[in-house]
Amino acid sequence: MNYLLDNHGRPISYLRLAVTDRCNLRCFYCMPEEGINYVPKPHLLTWEEMERVVRLLVQMGIDKVRITGGEPFVRRGILEFLERINTIDGLRQINITTNGVLTAPLVPDFGRLGIKSVNLSLDTLDRQRFFDITRRDEFGRVWETFEALQAHNIKTKLNAVVMSGKNIEDIIPMAELTRIHNVSVRFIEEMPFNGDGAHEYQEFWNYRKILDELKKHYPGIYKLPDPAASTAYHYQIPGHKGTIGIIAAFSRTFCGTCNRLRITPQGQFKTCLYDDGVFNIKDLLRQGLSDEVVQSRVFEALQHRAKDGFEAEGQRKAGLVSESMSTIGG
Ligand code: GTP
Ligand code: 5AD
Ligand code: SF4
Repeated sequence: MNYLLDNHGRPISYLRLAVTDRCNLRCFYCMPEEGINYVPKPHLLTWEEMERVVRLLVQMGIDKVRITGGEPFVRRGILEFLERINTIDGLRQINITTNGVLTAPLVPDFGRLGIKSVNLSLDTLDRQRFFDITRRDEFGRVWETFEALQAHNIKTKLNAVVMSGKNIEDIIPMAELTRIHNVSVRFIEEMPFNGDGAHEYQEFWNYRKILDELKKHYPGIYKLPDPAASTAYHYQIPGHKGTIGIIAAFSRTFCGTCNRLRITPQGQFKTCLYDDGVFNIKDLLRQGLSDEVVQSRVFEALQHRAKDGFEAEGQRKAGLVSESMSTIGG
């Protein structure tokens, strides 16, 4: 096992690979309703290129890959890709973050594909509010995915971005899901990665405010230990089967243990969610560079990593963050 360390001594073991910028929803916190410029296909990493990148990074010490997007399941060839990377020695975990629209029929294959854990984006349990947030009437299919994941015993985390005026009334009903389901319900602070679909913030729901709301309804809620390099603070409501997570994504309280690298659909290599990319790995591959040279560029980039998301944001050349989360992969 190799240990890959950054310039702050943080072990790097987790790759977030965004396999497409396309999506079949239009969540308002992620992208504008119209006028989205999708990346032209030749500018996307191919499946073969992504497989090579994963192999090279696993050789360097990455042992967990999260497949994100856009929506990963809208890109043709994803199942074959998963099947191939599942054979890579040293890759301990392949996880997926999905919006659940196309996912339910695929869940029975997840065991074979090595997918043991799925993060399902779901901001509300109400069909109308789902439509208001995502601009698509797909709540039913997403709920079927949740049920399929439960039926197949796939470890599931639900991701809900908490937004005033949109889904505050869902906080308690979503927390209630943990009563009988073995699920982790995670409440996420909203970040400004919305593709310039900027909107008025009435009131910002930070992690403390989210916790206060939960405490009001569940005075007995208590803190659980957090796994190493976790993005979430974990809590338990006494007697409930599942757990609660709160992700301070905007407050960025977890940067000190950040073990993540990101690759965007166009191949931008990011050492922080808030940076604007440090080099393009697709360009290196297409120049015909050897594995060793590509790996040394990765290593080099890790020796100049910002200490946290605030420093990374301050060093951006492209100005304030406004790119769509679908072009980064979250
Ligand atoms: P696990 O792998 O299960 O720990 O999940 P995760 O929290 O790393 O991934 P997921 O795709 O479910 O993302 C949940 C939320 O956390 C999203 O809103 C992400 O954008 C946010 N998030 C993930 N990694 C980072 C990060 O490095 N920095 C910040 N600020 N937010 C992050
Ligand atoms: N702020 C916080 N989380 C976001 N996500 C997408 N856009 C934002 C945003 N602006 C979340 C999605 C998904 C995860 C990968 O990122 O809900 O679950
Ligand atoms: Fe699609 Fe995810 Fe963005 Fe929603 S948050 S529009 S599901 S990429």
